[in-house]
Amino acid sequence: MPNSGDFKDRITTIERHFLDEQLAHPEAKGDLTSLLYDLALAGKMIASKTVQAGLADILGSTGAQNVQGETVQKLDVFADQTIYRLNDHTGRLACMGSEEQDEFIPIPEKYPKGNYVLLYDPLDGSSNIDVNVSVGTIFAIYKRKTPPGGPGTLEDCLQPGRNLVAAGYVIYGSSTMLVYTTGNGVHGFTLNRMLGEFLLSHPNVKMPAKPKYYSVNQAYEPYWSAGVLQYVRWLQTGENKLSLRYIGSLVADFHRNLLAGGTFCYPADRKDPKQPGGKLRLLYEAAPLAFIAEQAGGYATDGHRRILDIEPTSLHQRVPLFIGHKALTKPVEDYVQKYDK
Ligand code: AHG
Repeated sequence: MPNSGDFKDRITTIERHFLDEQLAHPEAKGDLTSLLYDLALAGKMIASKTVQAGLADILGSTGAQNVQGETVQKLDVFADQTIYRLNDHTGRLACMGSEEQDEFIPIPEKYPKGNYVLLYDPLDGSSNIDVNVSVGTIFAIYKRKTPPGGPGTLEDCLQPGRNLVAAGYVIYGSSTMLVYTTGNGVHGFTLNRMLGEFLLSHPNVKMPAKPKYYSVNQAYEPYWSAGVLQYVRWLQTGENKLSLRYIGSLVADFHRNLLAGGTFCYPADRKDPKQPGGKLRLLYEAAPLAFIAEQAGGYATDGHRRILDIEPTSLHQRVPLFIGHKALTKPVEDYVQKYDK
């Protein structure tokens, strides 16, 4: 007789899991549950395109025609529009923000306004799709700051990560997975393509105690500060005997380190004077992944302070990011403090 308490003896769909989490909040009206479910649907729709990327000619420029004479969209545009179109009319959102759009996205006047704010990076690492490397979608959900009912504003989007009510990502890899947290642990679901369902495969994910990897674009070493250089030397030569793994696709690098144990760095560098703060975006990339990392027992910092405590000042603000296994990641703050005056 199987142990009925073991998750492997049950088949848990993502819908069931969202609903079970909602039951723990008797005051909940179900808006967050439905929003998460729509994001899972967006993930399935985007996944169905990524697996055909080479065939469907969707790597070409927007407006090109495919062999059927249909207008083709680039995959990142498709992903952006899919998430927007699933969420603009539901009455759950006050506004949205997308890494693909310069300004925040208001809900059209004709639709009701809700209490949540959705920020998303529709297809992170999209340059990798041309060479069949994993890419991902990242999402972040906040409660609005402005009073209910009216249109959402930029102020609703510019919130520190510690205000997140949910965050997650979908990775389009050898299988498609959705990983998310609402502050009650990190849970991973694998898409069963035959059924079209995300099924719980990784409940309550915790970063492994013994880390294996560090991930950084080592080519930028000449542009790093002394503190970052010393920190990376420590990662290379320390007692953990880490291996280097770097894909250059944030979701894939983060996901590997979450499951296998490790830390990811994208430091500030002197390569591009126009981008002194590094490449990654606080609201669309760093904050949601930091929430997941902390919920899995890890840590995320910009080298000075916890990512989740940074007060954003603009929608596309960039930050240095060090994220992963806590004991590997937190020391960067000491190195930066000691060597970077
Ligand atoms: P893009 O979406 O333009 O392909 O950028 C991807 C991001 C992120 O996913 C990854 O961690 C980082 O860029 C890699 O940048 P480098 O090539 O500079 O290492």
